[in-house]
Amino acid sequence: MERKTIGILYGGRTGEHEVSCRSAASVISNLDPAAYLPLPIGIDKRGTWYLQERIAFTGSGDIRYLVIEASEDRMVTVVPGRGLAVAGRPLVVDLIFPVLHGTFGEDGTIQGLLEIAGIPYAGAGVLASALAMDKAMTKSVWQRADLPVVPFMTVSKVEAAGSPKALEELAHAARARFGMPLFVKPVCAGSSLGVSRVEAIEQFDPAVEEALRFDLRAMVEPCIIGREIECSVVGNDHPEAYLPGEIVSNHSFYDYEAKYLDPDGARIVVPADLPEKRREEVRALAVAAYRAAGIEGMARVDFFLEAKSGAILLNELNPIPGFTNISMFARMCEASGLPYPALLSRIIGLGFERFSAHEALQYSISPATSG
Ligand SMILES: Nc1ncnc2c1ncn2[C@@H]1O[C@H](COP(=O)(O)OP(=O)(O)O)[C@@H](O)[C@H]1O
Ligand SMILES: [Mg+2]
Repeated sequence: MERKTIGILYGGRTGEHEVSCRSAASVISNLDPAAYLPLPIGIDKRGTWYLQERIAFTGSGDIRYLVIEASEDRMVTVVPGRGLAVAGRPLVVDLIFPVLHGTFGEDGTIQGLLEIAGIPYAGAGVLASALAMDKAMTKSVWQRADLPVVPFMTVSKVEAAGSPKALEELAHAARARFGMPLFVKPVCAGSSLGVSRVEAIEQFDPAVEEALRFDLRAMVEPCIIGREIECSVVGNDHPEAYLPGEIVSNHSFYDYEAKYLDPDGARIVVPADLPEKRREEVRALAVAAYRAAGIEGMARVDFFLEAKSGAILLNELNPIPGFTNISMFARMCEASGLPYPALLSRIIGLGFERFSAHEALQYSISPATSG
């Protein structure tokens, strides 16, 4: 079998640029060399794409980053209907694996560009990617499917600035509906950026202001006291959920510091210590949430397990979760018997499958003409 050329897109115009370079280092080192030829395409912080002449890393041990070299003569362009080009010449890839987190990568924008270029890609499509980026829209879709979510209220920057009493009224309404403490966060963001736990009502306005630094809308939720459970799901039409894991944070919540800076900030427990029945409930709910959101390829579905009620509540959906071999996503698959290299092959295979299914569709009543 001829090896497939896989373009690995990484870096990007996002707060999670470095996280992506780290995920990409893992992906590129673990692709099955008999089946795939990786072609690294680094995206700098301005959003420009560069074909990498060689595969180079910085960092050490488990913490390695794929280097991005920005040389003008290797700038990659996207040609609608034709694919990629570098220095004016076609750059042939069989599939693109976007190893990009957050804005301009996980949010449907790159996916749309690749659709226009006619290039197969791994992971969720345009609609599901864009949906998952918006926590309020995702939860509305889940509510429509009768799935249990953490309840929420939203406020826009314009509404918050509209009248001097707007925020005060919202604070009181949220307290009356949800009790205290509250959580306030941007509707579209990630990495816990702009997320605050509000213990006292005086902290409410600054928390909303902080959230509105990262997005034009903020959301307010009850603080769920309990455990944070996550579940990997992989598949297109027949998604499969793996054994759930748990995040045990040593901070007041799983904040940016606990995620990336403090080595003792949080512990990942895989599989989560849950009775068999609970595990199965989480897996079933993860698959239902994945399907309801129309995800293809892969996603990590995040939950809270509320201590008081025992309820499993959906929190959010990540179509391109942290993706190193030691990330939660990969570890949950591994715990269920799917090792990281095989996981990568599976996700690539699903990307080709989805592309073929779409290729077989007819886009107009007359056949396409070329040239
Ligand atoms: N309603 C909530 N109750 C309790 N903790 C929360 C709540 N919402 C968020 N958190 C905490 O904040 C973290 C980040 O929030 P999350 O909604 O997952 O956004 P992000 O996309 O930034 O990861 C969570 O992992 C959790 O620790
Ligand atoms: Mg999260």
